[in-house]
Amino acid sequence: MKTNVMAVVGSTGKTGERVLSQLQARGYNTRGLSRNSEYAFDWNDQNSWKIALEGVETAYVTYFPDLALPKAEHDIRAFVDLSKTLGLKHIVLLSGRGEDGAQLAENILINSGLEWNIVRASWFMQNFSESVMLDGLKAGELVLPEPKANEPFIDVDDITDVAVAALTRADLRNQVLEITGPELLSFASCVQSIAEASQRHIRFQTASIDAYLAAAKAQGVPEDMAWLMNELFVHVLDGRNESTTNTVADVLGRPARNFKHYVEKMAATGVWNESL
Ligand SMILES: NC(=O)c1ccc[n+]([C@@H]2O[C@H](COP(=O)([O-])OP(=O)(O)OC[C@H]3O[C@@H](n4cnc5c(N)ncnc54)[C@H](OP(=O)(O)O)[C@@H]3O)[C@@H](O)[C@H]2O)c1
Repeated sequence: MKTNVMAVVGSTGKTGERVLSQLQARGYNTRGLSRNSEYAFDWNDQNSWKIALEGVETAYVTYFPDLALPKAEHDIRAFVDLSKTLGLKHIVLLSGRGEDGAQLAENILINSGLEWNIVRASWFMQNFSESVMLDGLKAGELVLPEPKANEPFIDVDDITDVAVAALTRADLRNQVLEITGPELLSFASCVQSIAEASQRHIRFQTASIDAYLAAAKAQGVPEDMAWLMNELFVHVLDGRNESTTNTVADVLGRPARNFKHYVEKMAATGVWNESL
């Protein structure tokens, strides 16, 4: 067992769980952190942070719900300040590509004097199978605000491999690793691929952003999450991210996984089967 304690904040989340299990398989001394972990960590309760981070040298940090939210800048500043006080040496922060708010949080870490990495990712493929889009796909109709641009969706397994490399390889220290999948895809074509692989008829419908947000709020979606949906669909998906990067291959020495690989793997598990 290597002695340096590596913490994973958000250790039951889409990337956190995978990063934690890779580090454990490699023999690192790990500490998974979330609201329900042995050392409870809650972004909404700063009193929980100190005990959770004591003795930690390296941390993989996923902010929840999203680094684009205005509150994230304040929370990341407080997290970085406490980390310095407690003697943390290196933080790897998961960030979102093209998110103005996320860049404010990134800059706090970059200018902190700590060793740092930013893993700045495009939209996750796993949003279709482990997140908000899953229910609609299972029900046979996914409704989203009209996306203005195509997106280079990335496989969370690739984010995990890059994050673990950033945590463990000294040659990658103090770099922004901007990572995407290998191809630009429309949401409509993603849904089509999922429907074909699952041998189902799944409709993809678009709504105006105003109609979408009104319906979301009527269903009880909180104000900050409605703000986030607007930020993601109106600003982040405005075409600024309509390009791919080669960073996954540069870091890992192999190409990024494509959407077809993801869809075939997940369809075989039955994740998109009709909800009964
Ligand atoms: N989804 C994307 O396409 C995408 C793209 C680029 C970047 N990102 C970034 O990725 C980050 C994670 O987003 P995600 O959607 O993938 O979520 P996720 O990692 O799946 O988030 C869930 C994790 O957060 C923990 N959590 C929830 N509320 C918490 C709280 N109040 N305090 C501490 N931990 C809490 C959960 O554990 P418990 O419930 O046990 O607390 C769980 O471990 C965000 O900062 C986002 O900006 C996402």
